[in-house]
Amino acid sequence: MKICVIGSGYVGLVAGTCFAESGNNVICVDVDQEKIEGLKRGVIPIYEPGLKELVLRNCEEGRLSFTTDLEAAVKESLVNFIAVGTPPGADGSADLQYVLNVARSIGQHMESFKIIVDKSTVPVGTADKVRVAVAEELAKRGVDIEFDVVSNPEFLKEGAAIDDFMKPDRVVIGTDNVRTAEIMKELYSAFMRKSNRLITMDIRSAEMTKYAANAMLATKITFMNQIANLCELMGADVMAVREGIGSDSRIGYDFLFPGVGYGGSCFPKDVKALAKTAEECDYDFILLKAVEEANARQKRVLPDKIAARLGNGGPKPLAGKVIATWGLSFKPRTDDMREAPSVTIIDALLELGAEVRAHDPEAIKEAKKVFGERIGYSHNQYDILKGADALVIITEWNEYRNPDFDRIKSLLINPLIFDGRNLYQPHRMKLEDFEYLPIGRNG
Ligand code: UGA
Repeated sequence: MKICVIGSGYVGLVAGTCFAESGNNVICVDVDQEKIEGLKRGVIPIYEPGLKELVLRNCEEGRLSFTTDLEAAVKESLVNFIAVGTPPGADGSADLQYVLNVARSIGQHMESFKIIVDKSTVPVGTADKVRVAVAEELAKRGVDIEFDVVSNPEFLKEGAAIDDFMKPDRVVIGTDNVRTAEIMKELYSAFMRKSNRLITMDIRSAEMTKYAANAMLATKITFMNQIANLCELMGADVMAVREGIGSDSRIGYDFLFPGVGYGGSCFPKDVKALAKTAEECDYDFILLKAVEEANARQKRVLPDKIAARLGNGGPKPLAGKVIATWGLSFKPRTDDMREAPSVTIIDALLELGAEVRAHDPEAIKEAKKVFGERIGYSHNQYDILKGADALVIITEWNEYRNPDFDRIKSLLINPLIFDGRNLYQPHRMKLEDFEYLPIGRNG
């Protein structure tokens, strides 16, 4: 099948590449000339395990190509995915200008029947707006060409994007047209070989499904973060509690790891956008507001704990203290710094007067765009520990799970670890003679 994916960001690039891998002819489009030129040379703009190999192979085999020429891509393709960004606007609602611009461009250039697929995360009702935008352009041209709009939200996770796309828990297709549903089924059939996980529904429900899923996951994490805070106060162990409740199949073990608050390009933005949608309908979604507020507070848990343990009063209680942090990206296996809790945590530590040095296996380049010269960086996780007052773990990269504790101890001034991700066992840390402060359990 001939398809084009407009917007070669995280979702667009992964989707386009995976569709090419399953035999389709895919053109990925972007307005960013530099990005497209890079992709043509095999330079992948994001860090995503396995993506580079797939891009190179499919380009070599002629199934995947990159262009800034939207017009040519649309003319050639039956299915046109819109996968451009929907950043939060000033009021928290999703900014649809990029999606609607693409819709208008499609309307300006299409010459035959097109299926237009909203892949970007967009509020309920967007498919209708896309339909109107395309129809207006066709009317301006004085032509009558058939087209159909589909909602096909994406559920992939960064760091596991290829697997999530090729072995999805489900694929949601929102359409009111039987023929279009069949074409979409065919397109996804390569990823449904084990069992059919394709769910078709009406367009508005598909649009809502995406927000409901992310809001539910954000709520689950936030609930556990608050239970963790309470465990700390009550002398309970949140990791034991997680096992205790996760064994109930209605609850499950996933997404119950307490930490430094959720981040990334999706949860914060989508929770805000859904709250905004509710507001526009005069519905008071009090739970979502609480999730947002609780998550903002969770990002302060680590700096407050550090100030309480190491601070010496005054307006800059951490003045003269050196804090070494492990992990900058919002989660492991990505270099993505968008809404990373590390930003709030490190900004707070700097505000409290500390000197901060950071390590991350992949995100240092991106982090430099955020922190500049305000903090120190090293590509070696041990270098930054020399003479530091404490080690703070912010992101759970695998390389932090079994470190050389003797080496850490010999480098730090105090054998003190604040662990925002509960990577170690408190009893083991006691044996290693560390003062260990995890989240929601006594060290
Ligand atoms: C999330 C969803 O999981 C995907 O299904 C969705 O497609 C994507 O958003 C999107 O809307 O595009 P992602 O942002 O890549 O994916 O990251 P997650 O792995 O879901 O993690 C989100 C945040 O929650 C991270 O900051 C992570 O550290 C935090 N988290 C996750 C916890 O603090 N505890 C947990 O138990 C799980």
